[in-house]
Amino acid sequence: MAQPMAAGLLARPVPSTGERVPAVGLGTWLTFDVPLGNAAAVARRREVIERFFAGGGRVIDSSPMYGQAEALLGVVLPRDDKRLFAATKVWTALGPYGPTQMRRSLGLWKLPRVDLMQIHNLLSWRSHLPTLREWKAQGLTRLIGITTSHGRDHDLVQRILETERGIDVLQITYSPADRSAEPLLDLAAKKGVAVIINRPFDGGGLLSRLSRAPLPPVAAELGCAHWATLVLKWELANPAVTVAIPATTNPEHVEQNLAALRGPLPDAKQRDAITRAMQPALG
Ligand SMILES: NC(=O)c1ccc[n+]([C@@H]2O[C@H](COP(=O)([O-])OP(=O)(O)OC[C@H]3O[C@@H](n4cnc5c(N)ncnc54)[C@H](OP(=O)(O)O)[C@@H]3O)[C@@H](O)[C@H]2O)c1
Repeated sequence: MAQPMAAGLLARPVPSTGERVPAVGLGTWLTFDVPLGNAAAVARRREVIERFFAGGGRVIDSSPMYGQAEALLGVVLPRDDKRLFAATKVWTALGPYGPTQMRRSLGLWKLPRVDLMQIHNLLSWRSHLPTLREWKAQGLTRLIGITTSHGRDHDLVQRILETERGIDVLQITYSPADRSAEPLLDLAAKKGVAVIINRPFDGGGLLSRLSRAPLPPVAAELGCAHWATLVLKWELANPAVTVAIPATTNPEHVEQNLAALRGPLPDAKQRDAITRAMQPALG
């Protein structure tokens, strides 16, 4: 269940290690895929990262699938910063190419190891899983995980969680706009697997639709001045969720998102009130 960090920010434990991580992280799909030669775009992402760490964030998620994102992280991340929890992925149909791709990611991030290596979209998971276990044994990644999104492959995720040992993290789509992962969140909690939530804003579409709706009175009870904060608190109210990783190009949005780490989370009644207020935007 929710435990505040020393600084009073919401942090959740990774069940397999007990380490606590701030419950709002940062995604990099699309938002960090910009040319390294575009000085203005790079400076804006540097500000996003600076505000993210200054506001207590730690978990940053990327992938070799995300174009220039890993290379950009290597440019804008502060060196040797103990606050960083680096999460990336292996994404290739060719099992034997996995280690080469993962080493390339370490090079791009400019890190000797990562905190979490995930199998992106379960692509060739049978061939990558033994490699990830080996990397973990060698200390090249501390944790290993699997990812899916958009409600895909839930049967396979269930089978893997039920049969494979040593999976530390499940990354999956969950938001008020897509609750299909709820049975898997329960299963992950039962199996002691941490959960990273991707697409927490439905790729941004949920917030666009909500932008026309007034904030409900429950927002003030929870100290939320923005829909983004309220949506993240709704997600974090599920105790199986370890971290949600919204992506943004906007330093002010970083602060709205990290605001979900402060103050109370909705209880069941408040969560229902938020769901009702969002209903017109959920379709
Ligand atoms: N299979 C997988 O492994 C997988 C699949 C999907 C996603 N992911 C991971 O999950 C991360 C998050 O998912 P996502 O990027 O697809 O979607 P998302 O985080 O649900 O939405 C991102 C969009 O929300 C907007 N946004 C963020 N904060 C906001 C705020 N406070 N107010 C208004 N708008 C805001 C951003 O626009 P602005 O730039 O204007 O803020 C951006 O366009 C990805 O970046 C990636 O790291 C993994």
